[in-house]
Amino acid sequence: MEIKVTRTTAPLEKPLEAEKAGTLGFGNYFSDHMFLMEYDEGIGWHDARVEPYHNLSIDPAASVLHYGQEIFEGMKAYRTKEDEILFFRPLMNAARWNQSAKRMCMPTMEPEMYMEALQAVVDVDRDWTPHAYGTSLVLRPAMIALEKSLGVHPAKKYLFFIICSPSGAYYKNGMAPVSIYVEEEYIRAAAGGTGYAKCGGNYAGSMLAGEKAEEMGYDQVLWLDGVERKYIEEVGSMNMMFVIDDTIITAPLAGTILPGVTRNSILTLAADAGWKVEERKLSIDEVYQAAHEGRLNEAFGTGTAAVVSPVGKLCWRGEELVINGGKIGPKAQYLFDKLLGIQLGNSEDVYGWTKVCERKY
Ligand code: COI
Repeated sequence: MEIKVTRTTAPLEKPLEAEKAGTLGFGNYFSDHMFLMEYDEGIGWHDARVEPYHNLSIDPAASVLHYGQEIFEGMKAYRTKEDEILFFRPLMNAARWNQSAKRMCMPTMEPEMYMEALQAVVDVDRDWTPHAYGTSLVLRPAMIALEKSLGVHPAKKYLFFIICSPSGAYYKNGMAPVSIYVEEEYIRAAAGGTGYAKCGGNYAGSMLAGEKAEEMGYDQVLWLDGVERKYIEEVGSMNMMFVIDDTIITAPLAGTILPGVTRNSILTLAADAGWKVEERKLSIDEVYQAAHEGRLNEAFGTGTAAVVSPVGKLCWRGEELVINGGKIGPKAQYLFDKLLGIQLGNSEDVYGWTKVCERKY
């Protein structure tokens, strides 16, 4: 694929002070450039380019604005001690991208094309990858439907773009345990719906419950299944894992939760550490019963943004559980260190998960 690169003549100041002060936050700053490419029915993908970061101009009738035909990905690039930039399992994101695209009737992309696009923009903006431990360059590929039409049908025209954000921890308190409200009134997804796709609508639909949880003093919402409102699903921004006795239990990939790249990596690392891992339906009653019997040892979420995020408190039907004394548990800590070690190139990558961003542009 030929990629035209136009460099900015007015580079922005990098948020070095915020990085030093540990106040980068998540998705607050953006790098100098972005990747763009259009798709037209009958032509395919065309006009791949890296340009200075800029506003988009789209027709007010563009279908994304009315019917939400949109998908995105969550990825990160990491700086190693040797100043290489590493991607983490980018081809797994490319595969999920295509799954999301198919579900939303949008054009797919060869994984190599997806990879080349990432390489180009991250290479041009490699200096924007922060240095501090726990920081990264968050990559946000997205695709929107641009057809000027109010008919409800798949568009014939799309824009694919990637923006990059030097970021710190997703939660404002870093790796400190989060508190979670178990939601019973609203649901996130049901079988046959879009739960497994990374589309904006899933996130828009979750915000009301998020606000409700926040008003009650909780950081996040834990979704239960849409039919019985009984089985653990996920936490919107992360997949959930519970350590009951010595076993790590997480919801199965049955079409209603996001197939997390971090979820898959953590299950692999846990199994390779010799721990028992189960992907199965886990009811909220079972979690509470285990807690009452003193067998719920840890709970944590996993996600690209959240990495491994311990859950210190859970609230269901007015009963608040404090998990592991509200502290980070040993399994969560081990898995966090192990995963970040690989992502930063500090530990040997026996899985072949990382990919160096080539110096080409
Ligand atoms: C990620 O984990 O990178 C995501 O895309 C979740 C996001 C909605 C914060």
